[in-house]
Amino acid sequence: MAAGRLSPGSRLPATRLLAGELGVSRGVVVQAYQRLADEGLAEARTGSGTVVTGRGVRRAPRPAGDRRRALDELRLPISTTDGVDIDLSPGVPDLSAFPRAAWLRAERAVLDRVTAADLRYGDPGGTPRLRAELVGWLARTRGVRCEADDVVVTAGVAQGLALLAQVLRARGVDALAVEDPGSRGATDQMVFWGMRPTGIGVDEHGMRVGELVATGVRAALLTPAHQFPTGVVLSPERRRELLAWANRDGGLVIEDDYDAEHRYDRAPVAALQGSAPERVAYLGSVSKSLAPAMRTGWLIAPRGMQAELLAAKHASDLGNPALPQLVLAQLLSSGDHDRHLRAVRTRQRSRRDALIAGLRAHLPEARVAGVAAGLHVLVLLPGTADDVVLAGRVAAAGVQVQPLSWHRRRPGPPGLVIGYAAHPPDRLAEAAARIGRALSRPGP
Ligand SMILES: Cc1ncc(COP(=O)(O)O)c(C=O)c1O
Repeated sequence: MAAGRLSPGSRLPATRLLAGELGVSRGVVVQAYQRLADEGLAEARTGSGTVVTGRGVRRAPRPAGDRRRALDELRLPISTTDGVDIDLSPGVPDLSAFPRAAWLRAERAVLDRVTAADLRYGDPGGTPRLRAELVGWLARTRGVRCEADDVVVTAGVAQGLALLAQVLRARGVDALAVEDPGSRGATDQMVFWGMRPTGIGVDEHGMRVGELVATGVRAALLTPAHQFPTGVVLSPERRRELLAWANRDGGLVIEDDYDAEHRYDRAPVAALQGSAPERVAYLGSVSKSLAPAMRTGWLIAPRGMQAELLAAKHASDLGNPALPQLVLAQLLSSGDHDRHLRAVRTRQRSRRDALIAGLRAHLPEARVAGVAAGLHVLVLLPGTADDVVLAGRVAAAGVQVQPLSWHRRRPGPPGLVIGYAAHPPDRLAEAAARIGRALSRPGP
């Protein structure tokens, strides 16, 4: 009836008949019909028994294409992605390399010993076991200084940003310095949560801290280890300037430790957080080491923000799901996570080399930057062409890349942001050849 399976006007069986069929007393059926009448789904009509009204529970009609359009608005402004067979969007690791066997082993080990109490609503900051593992792992790999109670386990860096924005807004802070160019996704999210971004230029040393200081803004979001999208590392001089600003002006550095685990040519620079734990809110996740769909990350903020962040996390979702947290803790403690990272790092380096070689051969006039770390390179193009148009031409050749201008707040030279982690060298060579052909052709 409510689901629309009985059409309006159709008659329900007589109560005596239905009671006989179902083997229940007639009183039960009379009561059930009365309930239907009370809910407006049926009505008793003299002479014709009980009839379906057709009122039922109605949903508003879904506007045509509404969901599709809403999702599209969150994506790239490229004219078409139809016919793309090599997706080189940045920020995605090789998902076919997800360590399934190790995950399954860890899940078994966890389920063998998980207690009933572990399945209760837990600490909104995360299960103690994962927080404790993260303390050791982040200290060893990133130089982060914290204790288990400083860690808030989040649904990715994205949720860490959302929590920070909510707390900053509640404190009356809404101005936020962001890198320009910088992650469009991260900035859009902060805007969603009510922050007002101010773009600060990025050069070969990272964010221009002098520009930041001049704005008077008190919170800055950065990707110091491997700047997105340029790939530069924040220089020692700029790190010092940034921390001096934070200490002197009471600034908060929001350190998005994006891509830090993927460094090929030398050991990664340590996180800023280790040098100034009370001035830095540190964010990381397994999105680039395991998979973005894990939606698992961490936030380690100055201690003065802890209570408000926990309240915001509690209000959002009462805490991350417990079992995946315990499995990740097991992967970290068994060393399987590190083994996985070592294995993918070797493979990614050869993929990066294949893409660079292909671009040098097919696009010799371009400059390829940001190659020392991460899962993408930045291709800087000569001239003044609109890179959204260029990315559209590349997409028409079946290769998806991101235009650099999509990540810019003010105009600048054209470029393409190209991810390489998800494809084997021969596909990357093919992609580079297609990109070269698409860009060398005179086009619209
Ligand atoms: C620079 C940057 N920060 C943060 C994120 C979001 O990461 P997460 O999946 O951990 O929420 C992304 C996503 O690709 C990103 O590019």
